[in-house]
Amino acid sequence: TERRPLIAGNWKMNLDHLQGIALVQKLAWTLKDAGFDSGAVEVAVFPPFTDLRSVQTLIDADRYALALGAQDLSPHDSGAYTGDVSGAFLKALDCAYVLIGHSERRTGHGEGDEVVRAKVQAAVRHGLVPVICVGETEAELEEHGTSAVPVRQTKAALEGVAAGTPVVIAYEPVWAIGTGKVATPETAQEVCSAIRNAVAEALGDADAAATRVLYGGSVKSGNIAGFMRQPDVDGALVGGASLDAAEFAGIARFR
Ligand code: G3H
Repeated sequence: TERRPLIAGNWKMNLDHLQGIALVQKLAWTLKDAGFDSGAVEVAVFPPFTDLRSVQTLIDADRYALALGAQDLSPHDSGAYTGDVSGAFLKALDCAYVLIGHSERRTGHGEGDEVVRAKVQAAVRHGLVPVICVGETEAELEEHGTSAVPVRQTKAALEGVAAGTPVVIAYEPVWAIGTGKVATPETAQEVCSAIRNAVAEALGDADAAATRVLYGGSVKSGNIAGFMRQPDVDGALVGGASLDAAEFAGIARFR
């Protein structure tokens, strides 16, 4: 199966809407100048909620070949949930994707498998493709080895999801996020392959073959190629390096 690689930039809580506009313009022009083939590789940006409208307007107006995603969503559709943002609102802003279960949400906001599952359901209800983030902490790595935690998290997140529903899974070892410590391409391959098997168990073989499994954790233009050579790594979820247009474009141009 041909899987179109996905290079996703998670800005986290960086860049206000003016800085966001500047970055997206610079990114689009850098890719264009390099003759980037967006048909071969999909590039998506995940700005803070407050940037989504400005970034979306710019992408639409200038026909940038960039997909848009949000960093989180509410498990609820609407109502008395102060501070939450509904999947319906994200869909109305042309978001294609939404991150769910990023380790910074799991650890910083106590989001466990159940909350992640409810958010995946909400994303699917609103026609958003969930980018489900999974990964083990350093302590879990020592206790359970490499694949056990990401596989458990994947299965839990996909419970109740119907076969044929498009999803993306991002494997991010927590110890590699923002640390400069990077998993080896071989480890990433081993875990991403185990995750693909978990997707097969949950959704069937055809879905598993079509699902993009990403690696995340200190990805840079200098180390992306090794990951992309792995048969079960279909792209990257990039944090810090996505804030620099030239560096992020370099990652998108991994070939
Ligand atoms: O969502 C992105 C990841 O948390 C990776 O962040 O590239 O800054 O290590 P990083």
